[in-house]
Amino acid sequence: MARALEASRALAPVLIVPSVLSADFARLGEEVVALESAGVDRIQWDVMDGQFVPNLTFGPDVIAAARSFVLVPFEAHLMVETPDRMIGRYVDAGCELVIVHAEACPHLHRTLGIVSEAGARAGVALNPATPLAAVEHVLDLIDLLLVMTVNPGFGGQRYLSSMEPKIARARSLLDGLDRDVDLEVDGGISPTTVAGAVRAGANVLVAGSALYRDDVGLAHGVAELRSKAEEARDAARRVQRSVS
Ligand code: DX5
Repeated sequence: MARALEASRALAPVLIVPSVLSADFARLGEEVVALESAGVDRIQWDVMDGQFVPNLTFGPDVIAAARSFVLVPFEAHLMVETPDRMIGRYVDAGCELVIVHAEACPHLHRTLGIVSEAGARAGVALNPATPLAAVEHVLDLIDLLLVMTVNPGFGGQRYLSSMEPKIARARSLLDGLDRDVDLEVDGGISPTTVAGAVRAGANVLVAGSALYRDDVGLAHGVAELRSKAEEARDAARRVQRSVS
């Protein structure tokens, strides 16, 4: 089973997930339409409460208002102090994946149960200083592990390449499971940093400012990130095959 899974994981698709943090908040309906047309795999809503992180962003009603504009799945990245109380509302707003921060969950095992009882897939995010040990006893409850490569709160920050050993350790932790769990990286992902994150083991890349900064446009930005990520994954796989 593990070998077959490993083979299938080696083919796990690279997913490009834009953060709407850099979008025009006055036109979010049109912005999600533009992201869907640009070929993204999911859209990430960076939910911030001004407590867990020093910024304040989207309530569930804002996401619900955008939901009917597109079919592409939504994920809610809850950078909030009290996720337990909010999870249900973000699922009702149309998020099929809810990511909570281990640092905000004194009862993380129970919180992940709340996510699945609400009918969503569950993810856990780790800030740069938080060790992987924080999730080792809940791996059976998650569909995604998010390793932050910035200190959360704002877009446009510098990618922390010092997180790559942690990404690599997370990849081997997840590869030891008998089920597929995506490894997502968020923060400073751009055409120049994406290869390092993918070589380390990420397969889901969240990008905000890099996409909106692209001179040609969103579709070009998404396509460029995807091709650089797939190039890095294929090169890493060739190295893996040559040493195994
Ligand atoms: C946490 C936010 C950002 C955002 C991505 O600060 O969640 O990481 O998603 O922003 P960029 O791609 O501009 O770093």
